[in-house]
Amino acid sequence: MHRRFTVPGAVAAASLLLAIPASAASFSPGAPGIGDPYYPYYGNGGYDVSHYDLRLTYQPATDELSGTATISARTTQDLSSFDLDFLLDVDEVRVNGVTARFTTSGEHELVVTPRQPLAEDTPVTVVVRYHGVPSTKSAYGFTTWHRTPDGAVAADEPESAWWWFPSNDHPGDKATFDVSVAVPDGTQAISNGTLVSTSSQLGWTRYNWRQNKPQATYLTTLALGRFDITTGTSEGGVPVINAYSKDLGDNDGAARASVERTGELVDWLSGYFGPYPFDSAGGYVPNTTTGYALETQTRVYYSPAQFANGSNTSVVVHELAHQWYGDSVSVKGWKDIWINEGFARYAQWLWSEHEGEGTTQQLADYVYASHPADDPFWTVKPGDPGVDHQFDAAVYDRGALAIQALRNEIGDTAFFRLLKGWPQQHAYGNASVADFVTYAEQVSGKPLAALFDTWLFQPVKPAAPAARAASFAASPAGVEQPRSWKKIEATNDVHGR
Ligand code: TRP
Ligand code: ZN
Repeated sequence: MHRRFTVPGAVAAASLLLAIPASAASFSPGAPGIGDPYYPYYGNGGYDVSHYDLRLTYQPATDELSGTATISARTTQDLSSFDLDFLLDVDEVRVNGVTARFTTSGEHELVVTPRQPLAEDTPVTVVVRYHGVPSTKSAYGFTTWHRTPDGAVAADEPESAWWWFPSNDHPGDKATFDVSVAVPDGTQAISNGTLVSTSSQLGWTRYNWRQNKPQATYLTTLALGRFDITTGTSEGGVPVINAYSKDLGDNDGAARASVERTGELVDWLSGYFGPYPFDSAGGYVPNTTTGYALETQTRVYYSPAQFANGSNTSVVVHELAHQWYGDSVSVKGWKDIWINEGFARYAQWLWSEHEGEGTTQQLADYVYASHPADDPFWTVKPGDPGVDHQFDAAVYDRGALAIQALRNEIGDTAFFRLLKGWPQQHAYGNASVADFVTYAEQVSGKPLAALFDTWLFQPVKPAAPAARAASFAASPAGVEQPRSWKKIEATNDVHGR
């Protein structure tokens, strides 16, 4: 209750206002989307979430998920109703303790109408009690809920929350999380952050996970199944929690040989990006048939397929680089995806050089030379690729090439200061490509608009930079493939989806 309502006159005035239809007209429905042109219905308008508390129960045998989500938010406008993004079956919604009307709309909207409209800039607590079988739900004809022989996994981009918790599903509204899930004894529940506690009762074990730093909804993950959990601490002091499905078969050894290096690689990346931004690091390898990896915050999702050809530290470097570039500093809108993928790819190039498998410049030369000018590769603008090309190879490879071009332009001193400064500048927040350009100009003291326009925003192959022109002219397609190339490229195989 707010102090202004303790004045009796104000209480009377407030209830009077609510009773007069003319003034109620200032209360309007929150928008069904947060305003991202790539995905008009992702996220919602009218409120800002600070914390999600999910208290769930999952039965692997039947894929039944049930429980409550308690959402702590603040209104950003006068609201007569508001949306959440969600697909499961809702039993009850309460707003500030009082039951509210709700209905579904569109592909994934849950429309909540509180009994009393909500005034702008006030705290609001929304409790959603729900149940359902996530694998039976789809939106736009797809699902991102992956069943496994022993459970299920929620990990996808740019959406995965709809199948397991109601949310304001857009990276523009980050929040902290408590994810508590009860599973039958013998099954584990893996999520983000640290494992605060577990408790056992009547054949069920409850796992209580906490993420105490802001986290985007698509970076919130849940894995249910039979896992072997390992813990440790990196030399630099970062606690590491990893989990491996007990059924990885032939991929088990290579998966562990890769993911168990998380602590070492977090410390190595800290040398380039600054202090690790979260309270723990790690990854998990569930028993899925998908092909990709995903930078789920503090607990990276790895497909077993990433390790089918042997150990792969390159994919681990990519996903850990996202903890700074993508997770701590998140996109403002999905068009800003280059800030995530360009830099995660560039981290793999740095690792390649460190491992003696090709320098960053060799990798840049190879990307440049291996795509002729008429290759559609060059029609994708990494700085604004469009919704249908958001995760194209060009966003990664041309994206990293742009970073090498920037480095060559501003020199190593400014470049590495920039690489480390950016995650500090926008820690735990959101930033756009335009923000990056501004910051790069600030740090380097050079005008860079033309350089970024050429490498990120023109749908054509840029002219070879002067310093490289001679070697390209001599042998346009003859640049040798760096030894790290194939492993690096396998990282963004999102076709298993
Ligand atoms: N961001 C992921 C990576 O680069 C790749 C990715 C894109 C992805 N779209 C996805 C992963 C959909 C899972 C699902 O590591
Ligand atoms: Zn990535």
